[in-house]
Amino acid sequence: MRRGAWSTRYAFYLATVGSAFSLGNLWRFPYVVNSNGGGAFVLLYILCALALGLPIVVAELMLGKAYKQSVIVATEQLSDTSTQSWIRRTRIWSFVGTLANFSSVVLLSFYSVICGWVLFFLMKYVAKISSKAEISNTLFTTLMDNGWLQVALMSVHLLITTLVVSKGLKEGVEKLTAWIMPLFVVLMIYLVFKSISLPGATEAMRFLFYPDFSSFSKDTLLKVLGHVFFTLSVGMGAMVVFGSYLKEDSYVPRSGFRVAILDIIVCLFAGFLIFPIIFTLSSIEDVGPALLFNSLPVLFEKIGLGRLFGLFFFLCLYLAVLGASIMLLETSVANLIDKRKFNRQKASWIMIGIAFVLGLPAALSSTVLVGVKVFNKDILRFYDSLLIDTMLPLVVLGMALVVGFGMPRKVKEEHFISENEMDSEKFFRNWHFLIRWIVPGVIVIAIALSLWPK
Ligand code: PHE
Repeated sequence: MRRGAWSTRYAFYLATVGSAFSLGNLWRFPYVVNSNGGGAFVLLYILCALALGLPIVVAELMLGKAYKQSVIVATEQLSDTSTQSWIRRTRIWSFVGTLANFSSVVLLSFYSVICGWVLFFLMKYVAKISSKAEISNTLFTTLMDNGWLQVALMSVHLLITTLVVSKGLKEGVEKLTAWIMPLFVVLMIYLVFKSISLPGATEAMRFLFYPDFSSFSKDTLLKVLGHVFFTLSVGMGAMVVFGSYLKEDSYVPRSGFRVAILDIIVCLFAGFLIFPIIFTLSSIEDVGPALLFNSLPVLFEKIGLGRLFGLFFFLCLYLAVLGASIMLLETSVANLIDKRKFNRQKASWIMIGIAFVLGLPAALSSTVLVGVKVFNKDILRFYDSLLIDTMLPLVVLGMALVVGFGMPRKVKEEHFISENEMDSEKFFRNWHFLIRWIVPGVIVIAIALSLWPK
């Protein structure tokens, strides 16, 4: 089958960074940092993103680029029954691929609920742009009290995503994003500047960067890892699909490095943006998933032309989350096409149907299903922790073993070692060691710690 390729490097970075730079950075990072004590969590996050996240991004991109397939078929090719090596004959590799695909569908379902929230705020800003009335900070509560509105917003979002993926409108969206994303960066810089001029900024920086290890619990390491994998879009097969579209002459380690670094920077930026607001207003406490939505409108009300900025911010954020959703759907659709030879249209509708059914209980978790608790959590938080704190570490553990042990060394060397790249042999050896031993080792330790009896 002929496979598309990124038209330009810029298109690749835009799509990859676009999918990485999304809710994980702007919505989830601030609230997990807030609920896990600040500086120590941030420090561990940066360390894990560089030492474990980055090698995995490179590994997934490489798997895709080497086999030109999405994750299920690529891992199936590694389970090669004709080889002598027992480790490569094992079918467990393809099980990892299937699990990764399953994660992408689970993520799409509850991700769409949050994307619906972004859509709601965007619509509110469009409506309020010229009105005098305050944008109150009860807006989020209004949304939480209306479960069916959340279902409607999620459905609209899923519909937009499916139309884009099934009708091949991706190019149009990519072009639009190519225009808007650089402006989003400028807007973020401006907003961060405004935010760090607030009176609570010093305290916020201290909270973000002063590591207080007493806030750690036995689950913290697993939480950090889950978040790193989520925000870098690994463990779901997405980077494998990206890699499969890479041109022959692109150098995977460099692409992976850039994506990871940019993603870390955006997470930190989100911290600079949100925490000064929280420390300036004592009224915002640990509000979990509501943090972004409760804090930013306060800043927009404070600065000149704030609503216009608000409107533009939520428009950019919506485009970013749309990009991520497109990529998530594209990942599972590519799997269906490669594995079952479905046509694109049919595959898109099937996947969106599954995501809708799975997303429904999450959208209703603050109203109709408010009494339903799974492991002491409401359904949305349960999905979040099932996927991010449990499935992603497990899939990434599998992926590290797939690439570390299942993929022939020669293939890896071909993609990593290059005469044109300085010290690539040394980097290869370090990377290979990290992938084979350190990434799996740290994940196993993190899981063991979290299961350790109190
Ligand atoms: N990394 C994205 C985020 O931070 C989530 C995502 C995962 C998007 C996988 C696409 C594919 O929000």
